[in-house]
Amino acid sequence: MSQVQSDSDKKAVMGEKYKAAFAESLQQPAEFWKAQADSIDWFRKPENILSRGENGNDVWFADGELNTAHIALDFHVDNGRADQPALIYDSPVTNTIQTYTYRELRDNVALFAGALENLGVVKGDRVIIYMPMIPEAAIAMLACARIGAVHSVVFGGFAARELATRIDDSEPRVLLSASCGIEFANTIAYKPLIDEAIELASHKPETCVILQRPQCEAAMGARDLDWYQALTDANGKMANCVPMLATDPLYILYTSGTTGKPKGVVRDNGGHAVALQYSMKAVYGVEAGEVFWGASDVGWVVGHSYIVYAPLFAGCTTILFEGKPVRTPDAGTFWRIIQDHKVNVFFTAPTGFRAMRKEDPNSELLKKYDISSLRTLFVAGERTDPPTYHWLREILQIPVIDHWWQTETGWPVAGNLMGLDPAGTKAGSVSFPVPGFNVQILSEAHKQEAAGEEGDVVIKLPLPPGCLPTVWGDHNRYHDAYMTLHPGYYHTGDGGYFDEDGYLYIMGRTDDVINVAGHRLSTGEMEEIVAAHPAVAECAVIGIEDPDKGQIPMALLLLKDGINDTHEKIKLDLTALVRKEIGAFANFKQSIVVDRLPKTRSGKILRQVMRKIADKQPFEPPATIDDPMILTEIEAALVENGIGMIGRRD
Ligand code: COA
Ligand code: AMP
Repeated sequence: MSQVQSDSDKKAVMGEKYKAAFAESLQQPAEFWKAQADSIDWFRKPENILSRGENGNDVWFADGELNTAHIALDFHVDNGRADQPALIYDSPVTNTIQTYTYRELRDNVALFAGALENLGVVKGDRVIIYMPMIPEAAIAMLACARIGAVHSVVFGGFAARELATRIDDSEPRVLLSASCGIEFANTIAYKPLIDEAIELASHKPETCVILQRPQCEAAMGARDLDWYQALTDANGKMANCVPMLATDPLYILYTSGTTGKPKGVVRDNGGHAVALQYSMKAVYGVEAGEVFWGASDVGWVVGHSYIVYAPLFAGCTTILFEGKPVRTPDAGTFWRIIQDHKVNVFFTAPTGFRAMRKEDPNSELLKKYDISSLRTLFVAGERTDPPTYHWLREILQIPVIDHWWQTETGWPVAGNLMGLDPAGTKAGSVSFPVPGFNVQILSEAHKQEAAGEEGDVVIKLPLPPGCLPTVWGDHNRYHDAYMTLHPGYYHTGDGGYFDEDGYLYIMGRTDDVINVAGHRLSTGEMEEIVAAHPAVAECAVIGIEDPDKGQIPMALLLLKDGINDTHEKIKLDLTALVRKEIGAFANFKQSIVVDRLPKTRSGKILRQVMRKIADKQPFEPPATIDDPMILTEIEAALVENGIGMIGRRD
């Protein structure tokens, strides 16, 4: 396997501070995390740091009591940061910039929490938040945390059916939304999607609180209540911070798995606060008072952890950006925001930079701005392809840190730790495991792979604080999905390897999850939709490489006999169907018709093999393949349709 030399002035060796912290975190996890737990303001400090729960799980801080909104806001208001900007809303799509100090944000949160209480929401109730990137989304999340309600944020790009699935699984008492989102120049009305979702769902929320935006007024129904009316009805009541056990759930965030049904990843209060606080210092190297910008969406885990919670826990100023890296208004938007708000640390997905590079390859727009405040750039959400990494290094001349994590872990599993004596970076690598994460590479037979050998990326138990303790309402699913394949280890679903210097490389999912423009999607779910089309006899959906979006989905179709529709019509139907059922951001546009699908003798479709053929990667047909000739047919069909190789990015 080819090794890339260190790509910065520093050597490709782990720093001493990092080595010491990492060793302590694995050898004495309870002592290590007890010390980290001291950095947050508990209502009751935990004595019991790491214990075994009733279901056999490792449990962090079982007897600790805290409130997440208190740690994020009240603590800072009471300790000298009341007038410091806590959140800056920058929205080029509405021409708005609005700053909330810690005191203002705390008061807005306490008032909206009072409105929720007035609607009957109590500790443990679920609240769905289906909102665009506006400050009220963060206020809603923190208001839930304040009164102990469990929020579940649903990304605004999801279609009604996806929202319905999440309503049925989490059974919210209240749904919070806005009249619309804004996508470039388009206004996306949310209310019709909400009405359709509630119609489709068996569970019905009692109230939908809708924030009317001037770009699109929603027609209100019997269940609906205007956002400001909800506040007026509560008579200015400010809710107090409810004491929560460390193990009480803070939120549920649904993520795509290998089946059609998304998994409700649960996050607890205590482990989350301790882990995120630690990450701000150790991983991101940020201090209180600095400006941290995560350009993502509150609908994803990056938005939860690094737009809303962690920057506030750490006493930083966070930026909430409603826009895109391009065309809002141009590919210089990121640089403008970094200049205007003096951003110190920036975190986003590589796909955004690929879009910018396409429009401004020589980074001419960068020359218009003074971005000297920017110290470090972090990228995650998908693999950073080496060309994008080198482009960023060249134009920015600051450390570019690719770091790797998942919805399930809630915070980075591997990265080059800016707060712990960072080493040199290597293009294509996510550097080293973060303290607390005992990352290993295992073969199918559970044996540890040697350096340079690719295998399953797993984390030896116990997982550190902050990682998911369960799947909402289905602990067996948690066990089956994550803990069964390699007993004693958490299975990440990613494949990868360590090099001789201990640098970790994440090479992509080994299951049916794909990553489209930094958005995680299930091909299994798309297959269910495609298979329901009356012309389709059988199908497989795979993720193939794409130069802009990282991956895009593609369906291979076997059609029923006697179908009169043209292939073209069927393909267009399928594109429209997936767009309607999942959302436009799935970017499902490619389908090809084949005569047969490659399978094992037991009938399992060989999706990973087809993906490798499409991406022109080496592959070994499994010994159990039914008829190897089918692979040649598939390759020919891909070539005939102009698919394959076009997307290779490195
Ligand atoms: N609400 C409604 N529709 C949405 C949406 C949302 N929140 N997000 C995306 N869509 C729609 C887009 O409008 C587009 O619709 P169209 O087919 O009608 O044009 C479609 O979904 C595809 O979207 P996308 O793949 O995102 O392409 P794009 O051209 O709109 O934007 C990028 C390209 C790179 C700017 C964008 O993908 C991006 O910012 N990605 C980063 C994602 C991210 O932050 N992930 C979190 C990990 S850190
Ligand atoms: P999500 O749960 O949406 O954050 O998606 C997590 C998945 O995205 C991981 O399992 C990886 O497959 C992929 N991913 C995230 N960050 C990286 C990265 N830095 N390098 C490679 N893959 C990544």
